[in-house]
Amino acid sequence: VAQAVMKKAAELAPDSLMPGGRPDPLIRRQHGHIGKPVSRVDGPLKVRGAAPFAAEVALDGMAYAALAYSTIAKGRIAAIDTAAAEAAPGVVLVMTHRNAPRLNPPPRFLSGDKAAAGDDSPIMQDDRVRWNGEPVALVLAETQEQADHARSLIRIAYEEEPAATSLATVSQAAGGCEVGTFMGEPLRAVVGDADAALAAAAHKVEVVYRTPGHNHNAIEPHAATLAWRGDELFVHDATQAVAHTAWSMAQIFGLEESQVHVTSPFVGGGFGAKGLWQHQVLAAAAARLAGRPVRIALSREGVYRIVGGRSPTEQRVALGADADGRLTAIIHRGVTPKTRHSPMPEPFILPTQSAYASETIALEVQTCYLDMVANTFMRAPGEAVGTVALECAMDELAEQLGLDPIELRIRNEPDKDPISGRPFSSRNIVAAYRAGAERFGWDRRSPTPRARREGEWLVGMGCATATYPYHRMPGGAARITLDADGRARVDVAAHEMGMGTATAQAQVAADRLGLPLEAVTVRYGDSSLPGVILAGGSQQTASVGLSVMMAHQELVGELLKLAGNDSPLAGLRAEEVESADAGLRKLDEPGRFESYASILGRAGRSELAAEGSAPMPLETMHWSMHSHGAMFCEVRVNAVTGETRVSRFLGSFDCGRILNPKTAASQFRGGIIMGLGLALMEETQFDERKGRIMNRTLADYHLPVHRDVPEIDVIWTDIPDPHAPMGARGIGEIGITGTGAAVANAIYNATGRRVRDFPITLDKLL
Ligand code: MOS
Repeated sequence: VAQAVMKKAAELAPDSLMPGGRPDPLIRRQHGHIGKPVSRVDGPLKVRGAAPFAAEVALDGMAYAALAYSTIAKGRIAAIDTAAAEAAPGVVLVMTHRNAPRLNPPPRFLSGDKAAAGDDSPIMQDDRVRWNGEPVALVLAETQEQADHARSLIRIAYEEEPAATSLATVSQAAGGCEVGTFMGEPLRAVVGDADAALAAAAHKVEVVYRTPGHNHNAIEPHAATLAWRGDELFVHDATQAVAHTAWSMAQIFGLEESQVHVTSPFVGGGFGAKGLWQHQVLAAAAARLAGRPVRIALSREGVYRIVGGRSPTEQRVALGADADGRLTAIIHRGVTPKTRHSPMPEPFILPTQSAYASETIALEVQTCYLDMVANTFMRAPGEAVGTVALECAMDELAEQLGLDPIELRIRNEPDKDPISGRPFSSRNIVAAYRAGAERFGWDRRSPTPRARREGEWLVGMGCATATYPYHRMPGGAARITLDADGRARVDVAAHEMGMGTATAQAQVAADRLGLPLEAVTVRYGDSSLPGVILAGGSQQTASVGLSVMMAHQELVGELLKLAGNDSPLAGLRAEEVESADAGLRKLDEPGRFESYASILGRAGRSELAAEGSAPMPLETMHWSMHSHGAMFCEVRVNAVTGETRVSRFLGSFDCGRILNPKTAASQFRGGIIMGLGLALMEETQFDERKGRIMNRTLADYHLPVHRDVPEIDVIWTDIPDPHAPMGARGIGEIGITGTGAAVANAIYNATGRRVRDFPITLDKLL
């Protein structure tokens, strides 16, 4: 319904997507706080250990929770013996499906505006087991160690049923697959007859790329510390969705939304996984049974068992081109598993939707059900692994054509969105490639594989395109409160997961309000604050920035009313003034000015607050909006051991206006580092016999450490997007996209080996 409403509204008002039909003044402002490399306002708290994380909040009388996880993939609990656990030292309570309170099903993410659950399985409500690792018991004890020990004493007998745990088996069975959906839309697109065009193409590549499952590994594992006070629930959570979590917990426990309070001032990384999973619900249920506050902090294994990750994919990309290297066919099809309780399969065709011009296009994600932990959002779901297949295939085609891979991409640059036909709001991939190629020294790359050797090391370079869509979800709102000293506070239900939210938004608010940066504070991470804002889809900055713009507009109106007839501003309308120098002034008559402090002072007010809501995200109905990038990688592959070392990496981005170069560079680098892990290390080891994830710790799930990460150079076009608030598109997820392909293409250039099965571990290069 929301989509239909938006489409209708877009038809009615095609040119006035920004509030009031005017462009955001911050898109063009040159000499403000935006664009300055301001250090993180929360930096001092973090380095002093004074930033409170969810598992560090101490509540009086708190008990500690430990979870027991099922060891079968499907079946039922035939018997469960908790006697030894209940008798163990310090144990307060053992909760299983037999004594857990009755709970409503968790609202599955995307099923409603505030639904937060990554999985909508009933939570400890019956004897059924739905995946290997599902929580089957919770122990509460006086200490974490006592809870962990007692949990080990629980004995469970299962009646096992045949489970679907092999992607190959299920996907090859007749009727085993169906077209997947993402955000309610089928993961399928057809332009012309791509199979016929491929058959007739002068040049073609047809390749299959495989990516494994990935587990989430935020530096802070999931945790919550919570307490009931009467019928009100107070949750200190690690979440990227405070308002969604509060509403969803209220649904589950049959409460009013106002009875649940979620705070989450600091989150040690989210990447899509810090939503509502079973642990918060089980902890709240146990707290109610025991009548005590509870802390639940998942172990690394706990995250792997109950928090979804990225599912494996098998992707076939076929590209047809004419003699000039112009694409005549793009086919990107493949298969990935899903579960009956997760809202999404891994949507790996997403990046291909707007990548290249081609006469024909055929995209499709086939999905099949497995009995496993839910697939969920993991940094650039779809694009992260979709660009692996697409951008490696482009490299393979370039080689066949004898074309430079950058030139091939430039030749196929689309002038409008090839699927939707919408114009691009702003697209400067070519500029990003040119700037990147020059800075990286692309002209020193030999097109011939294995051409450069330094001792044992084969050296090569590769590139790939990065891409991630601009999103803005409905529900953004913010409040600005001015005080009598002319200071401002922005209140918004936003999140700080390490990206510098408060810092960037303080810059934005200071520029909107005409205040020095020191005069603005941003309060966030609390479900009682305005807005239903997800720190996801790389959209938080746009959502908050536009909400602040709307709150500012309201504030200006209130200030003019308050200023009254004795003010130099008397008689002016909101459209006639702007914020500057800590006050309001007439647009074309700067002499007519009054400071905020003066307006409030004359009115005898200690503060003035105004709230604004972001309008529906109509901009995405009119324009194809995407962040872009050109990734450059140099690798050294050891000819003796097969070990790959990434020796240089450059990300050249086109993401609209960059609000804070310091925090933005960290976002880009962080994404690229995650992409290096995807390329070379990360792999969920899934035992298809038992449907069990075999990795349990970072000792057997490998991530890049400092020694694996070279100096990463990042540059950007800084070309404002005229259709995005502040001219800025998202920067959080794009860094992981294109990176895997840039590494793989560099490895090919170094070694002459195409490894199409990720991660590219040394055994595959020997
Ligand atoms: Mo992101 S995967 O939308 O947190």
